[in-house]
Amino acid sequence: MIARRLFTEYYRNLAADTVELCDGVNVICGENGQGKTNLLEALCLFTGVRSFRGAKNPELIQKGQSFARLKLDFFAGQRDQSAELVITDKKQATLNGVKLTAATGFIGTFCAVVFSPDNMGMIKGGSGERRKFLDAAISQHYPAYPRLLVEYNRILAQRNAFLKKSASTRGFEDMLDIWDENLSKTGAKISCKRAQYVSQLCGKTEEIFDGISSGRERISIRYTCGYLTEDSVTETAAALKSQLEAHRASDLAQGCTNYGAHRDDLAIAVNGLSAKQYASQGQKRSCVLALKLAEASVLEQAIGERPVAVLDDVMSELDGLRQDYLMNRMEGWQVLISCCDPHTVKGLSDGRVIEVREGRFTTR
Ligand SMILES: Nc1ncnc2c1ncn2[C@@H]1O[C@H](COP(=O)(O)OP(=O)(O)O)[C@@H](O)[C@H]1O
Ligand SMILES: [Mg+2]
Repeated sequence: MIARRLFTEYYRNLAADTVELCDGVNVICGENGQGKTNLLEALCLFTGVRSFRGAKNPELIQKGQSFARLKLDFFAGQRDQSAELVITDKKQATLNGVKLTAATGFIGTFCAVVFSPDNMGMIKGGSGERRKFLDAAISQHYPAYPRLLVEYNRILAQRNAFLKKSASTRGFEDMLDIWDENLSKTGAKISCKRAQYVSQLCGKTEEIFDGISSGRERISIRYTCGYLTEDSVTETAAALKSQLEAHRASDLAQGCTNYGAHRDDLAIAVNGLSAKQYASQGQKRSCVLALKLAEASVLEQAIGERPVAVLDDVMSELDGLRQDYLMNRMEGWQVLISCCDPHTVKGLSDGRVIEVREGRFTTR
């Protein structure tokens, strides 16, 4: 997958301009607030998912204008393709001259994996952030998975509401049995899918982290779930159901469900120590990068093409060797990497430097 050229018009602060990208490493360089992230964000809209900044359509349009237009020429599926997005209060998407019903129609055609500083929550934040990462990654492989999550959350909310209100009603235990049964069945499907995905992710994460840290450190990741049984959905469901039954009294006392897929986690350690508690800022960043790039590698196996790596503001806090890995040793990847420090660029041995100033691009 190669993004060849991106045309922008009335997109945030970007000038009406075309940026030509090279197949290897493209360093987008400029001071704060010049438009580096805006450029990366624009490119990533062609993956068909919403802005990685979580921005709504009107925010993407240049102040004072009524629309924004983006065009991307890219190489995928062994041919040159082109896509266009016109953003008003909605997004109109066109792929190779054919109008799509929605921008989500791009999903699977142009793929990119994004690192943004917001992703640091995967290490620094609570288990919910890590489950969100896994769930988003799995959803790209199994279109039915998001529905499973919606279903699970619905059952969980109903069980919790029931625990809070209904302890005194007749037939309470029987009703709770039904919630437990439903929650266990759906929860087991989710936990098994996540565990299976983590086992695919594991080796690749270790390999990439080894590269980023130049073999100086080891990462280990493990899916933690108190009832997972040998990847068998039926047995896992039975184990979760017994846990729910065994802890019914405390669930009732607290008015919430203490066991289930909403409590699972991804344990991440560097050299055997929990990354959240012990790793340095640079090591934490390396963990997130390794996980993100591993996610891209798993996707590559499934779709037969390597996604573009988009790395926003990743360089700060990384030592020279780690920066060198991202700029010079990611063979076979097309990389877009933004940075503020002009000294960083000096370490680039091959590739393209694109300077951004007040929304205008200069390539050197
Ligand atoms: N809709 C918009 N219209 C005009 N300017 C915008 C819009 N959205 C963001 N900007 C401007 O873009 C700049 C931020 O660009 P950004 O790409 O985040 O900077 P950086 O180069 O630091 O990554 C800010 O000056 C901001 O005011
Ligand atoms: Mg930025």
